[in-house]
Amino acid sequence: MNSKNPIVNLSSFSSIHFLFYSLVISLSSTVICGGIETDHEALLKIKSLITRDPYGALTSWNDSLHLWEGSLSPHVGNLSFLRTLSLGNNSFHGAIPQEVGRLSRLRYLYLYVNKFNKVIPTNISGCFNLEEIGLSNNELVGSIPKEISSLTKLNFLSLFNNKLTGGIPTILGNITSLELFSVRGNPLGGSFPNILSQWKNLREFYARGCNLTGTIPHEIGHLSRLTVLSLAINKFCWVIPTNLSGCSNLEELYLSHNELVGNIPKEISFLSKLTYFSLENNNLTGGIPPHLGNITSMEMFSLKGNPLLGGTIPDTLGLMESLKEIDFGGCNLYGTIPNSLYNLSLLVDISLADNQLTGGLYSAIGATLPNLVSFQLWGNKLSGPLPASISNCTSLKLLELAKNKFSGHLTVDFSNLTNMYIINIGGNLFGSKEADEISLLIL
Ligand SMILES: *[C@@H]1O[C@H](CO)[C@@H](O)[C@H](O)[C@H]1NC(C)=O
Ligand SMILES: *[C@@H]1O[C@H](CO)[C@@H](O)[C@H](O)[C@H]1NC(C)=O
Ligand SMILES: *[C@@H]1O[C@H](CO)[C@@H](O)[C@H](O)[C@H]1NC(C)=O
Ligand SMILES: *[C@@H]1O[C@H](CO)[C@@H](O)[C@H](O)[C@H]1NC(C)=O
Ligand SMILES: *[C@@H]1O[C@H](CO)[C@@H](O)[C@H](O)[C@H]1NC(C)=O
Ligand SMILES: *[C@@H]1O[C@H](CO)[C@@H](O)[C@H](O)[C@H]1NC(C)=O
Ligand SMILES: *[C@@H]1O[C@H](CO)[C@@H](O)[C@H](O)[C@H]1NC(C)=O
Ligand SMILES: *[C@@H]1O[C@H](CO)[C@@H](O)[C@H](O)[C@H]1NC(C)=O
Ligand SMILES: *[C@@H]1O[C@H](CO)[C@@H](O)[C@H](O)[C@H]1NC(C)=O
Ligand SMILES: *[C@@H]1O[C@H](CO)[C@@H](O)[C@H](O)[C@H]1NC(C)=O
Ligand SMILES: *[C@@H]1O[C@H](CO)[C@@H](O)[C@H](O)[C@H]1NC(C)=O
Ligand SMILES: *[C@@H]1O[C@H](CO)[C@@H](O)[C@H](O)[C@H]1NC(C)=O
Repeated sequence: MNSKNPIVNLSSFSSIHFLFYSLVISLSSTVICGGIETDHEALLKIKSLITRDPYGALTSWNDSLHLWEGSLSPHVGNLSFLRTLSLGNNSFHGAIPQEVGRLSRLRYLYLYVNKFNKVIPTNISGCFNLEEIGLSNNELVGSIPKEISSLTKLNFLSLFNNKLTGGIPTILGNITSLELFSVRGNPLGGSFPNILSQWKNLREFYARGCNLTGTIPHEIGHLSRLTVLSLAINKFCWVIPTNLSGCSNLEELYLSHNELVGNIPKEISFLSKLTYFSLENNNLTGGIPPHLGNITSMEMFSLKGNPLLGGTIPDTLGLMESLKEIDFGGCNLYGTIPNSLYNLSLLVDISLADNQLTGGLYSAIGATLPNLVSFQLWGNKLSGPLPASISNCTSLKLLELAKNKFSGHLTVDFSNLTNMYIINIGGNLFGSKEADEISLLIL
């Protein structure tokens, strides 16, 4: 093949990240020579619109340090052989030109971390070979163009942190190849699109903080490949669908800060790979289902701020042997802290604050929970002495035991807890001068 000459000619522009890929393609066919001439001119035009290039990225081969400012020239549409257009982490502003739609060979479009502030070009559907679109962290406005739905090879659509509105278009259900969909941090509004049974390949769904309303549909159970479902900080109401148990590969489930009511479905216990689970700040009732103890992969479990209406902490929680962080603060829980909890030696953060728990603390806590960093039990009705073995929890930074009924002689050697920065044991029944003195220490 005699396509080597044009490649040499182009080498002085090849520092533009995307050209590197066009060269790779041009090696594969001689037909491309004419195209390369067009590419060459296009690159010069594109370069002429870039106003600031402080690291000289355009004049060197290096593409690691790029910080280009300016707008993206419509001439980019002439780079017809481009497979990858990667201009992330720069300061491009203005519109993504409609001409991008002429890049029919394009597979990867990365324009994330820029200042593009117009609509996503509808013409993007012309890039029918696109597999990945990364437009996150811009200031894009308008709605997600329906035209994206014709991209039958698309598996990655990342639009997070923009200003997109107009809901999640139902027609996107037609992209059955989709594996990752992220729209978090866009004020999209609207309800959950009725498309889930079509997204059979979906693995990750991020829609945190999207002002979504309505219910979480039962069809969610069809997404058997889903590993992450993030719907936190929206206005979802009604119940958590029991059918969620169909998402048998789920590892992360974030439903916090919504308006969910009803019980925590015991069917969630079938999610045997669940690792991070947050239901914080909803309006859930009916206690904590003992079945959840079956999820031995669980590392973070938060129910904080739900009026669980009089549940106890089930003994089976002690089966969650991977648990590192637990937050059941402000859940109206009563009863005692089950001894099984003290068996979870990986625990780092425990908050059971602001409940109605009674009974004492396990005396050998320092031996069984050696990794504790934060231990918050304030605002309960716990009683008895503080176990001396707390002196052995040398990683402790935060010990909040205020407003309980703890009493007795203080035997904890606080001088041993060298990482501590907040101790609060005020509002208890110690009645000693010593206890009053350390009732609130901020070290
Ligand atoms: C690329 O960067 C490296 C490390 O900063 C530098 O040593 C090298 O000279 C650069 N190459 C060009 C062509 O600028
Ligand atoms: C490149 O693109 C521009 C704008 O789309 C067009 O006007 C021009 O004719 C093209 N140049 C070549 C060499 O194709
Ligand atoms: C963007 O650039 C910053 C600073 O150079 C770097 O820390 C960050 O990892 C980059 N992000 C992406 C997505 O490339
Ligand atoms: C939009 O895409 C079509 C199809 O790829 C193309 O023919 C047309 O020139 C594009 N429009 C612009 C403004 O580039
Ligand atoms: C979605 O795909 C279906 C079947 O592939 C097709 O019949 C339908 O027209 C498509 N919807 C739209 C709005 O393109
Ligand atoms: C959320 O949607 C409601 C309409 O349902 C609208 O009134 C409100 O302004 C939206 N909030 C944001 C932050 O976009
Ligand atoms: C519930 O999920 C199962 C798959 O786990 C599915 O077959 C069934 O149709 C779903 N029910 C609804 C109402 O979507
Ligand atoms: C929670 O639900 C109760 C009744 O079910 C209702 O009175 C209350 O206003 C709800 N709280 C919130 C914060 O939505
Ligand atoms: C889950 O736990 C419940 C009660 O804790 C138990 O009855 C049930 O058999 C367990 N299910 C599985 C699948 O392990
Ligand atoms: C703690 O674990 C040990 C051994 O793993 C077990 O024998 C014991 O019953 C557990 N204690 C509680 C209270 O669950
Ligand atoms: C702290 O741990 C050591 C070593 O395991 C043990 O000998 C000591 O009794 C413990 N201290 C307290 C107060 O429990
Ligand atoms: C202080 O901590 C060390 C290290 O864990 C331990 O060996 C020692 O016994 C502790 N002292 C007391 C009084 O518990």
